[in-house]
Amino acid sequence: MIRIAATGDIHYDKNSLNRLGQHLIGIDEKADFLLLAGDLTQTGHPEEMRTLAEDLKKCPIPIIAVLGNHDYHFNEVKLAINILSDSGVIILEGTSITINVNQKKVGIAGLKGFGGGFVGACGSEFGEEEMKAFIRHSKQEARHLEKVIKELNTDYKVVLLHYSPIEGTLTGEKKEIYPFLGNYFLAEAVDYGKASICFHGHAHSGIERGETPGGIAVRNVAQPVIRHAFNIYTLD
Ligand SMILES: [Fe+2]
Ligand SMILES: [Fe+2]
Repeated sequence: MIRIAATGDIHYDKNSLNRLGQHLIGIDEKADFLLLAGDLTQTGHPEEMRTLAEDLKKCPIPIIAVLGNHDYHFNEVKLAINILSDSGVIILEGTSITINVNQKKVGIAGLKGFGGGFVGACGSEFGEEEMKAFIRHSKQEARHLEKVIKELNTDYKVVLLHYSPIEGTLTGEKKEIYPFLGNYFLAEAVDYGKASICFHGHAHSGIERGETPGGIAVRNVAQPVIRHAFNIYTLD
């Protein structure tokens, strides 16, 4: 059995020390690794990243994370990644990592993702250059994710996103902002890549459970949704 601890949207600021850290002591008795589904900080400021990095040092199991839109705001993404990497966090940005758990190989493909919308209500590569660039970016990222998932030669394929791949976990959010909460190209990547499960965050007012059109489980682990420091999910 593979035990996954997952959370997202922890939105650290410089005063958040210990907020998650206090829950990480003894986490190795409950989970084999911890996933963080982006929006790790309020603005991506190095001071916020350092506070989080200090907290995550306490974690006795591997931590795998993607960044969220908030982590991009301060525009120091490379520095942010370095700060977290130095404390042992594995940041995935259209990349993957394989870890061994109980003689099983678990591949984790991670990507922030982007908006765009969902079937019947999505943007298209038409009209203004800004609109074309928006949707082109979303599609390119999703296609890249599909390739990364397909390249995994592992017993399990876990997908970690910030933006949502489906509408199903957005219930409770305003319909008007769905195109800014995710896109269905990501769900296609999850389905065509034959993932085992997919985690995302970003939709603070959504719901936890959903599935892709292909029937793959999707879990929105944004902290305001799960209302815990993290949730535990098992694969077996
Ligand atoms: Fe968030
Ligand atoms: Fe977000």
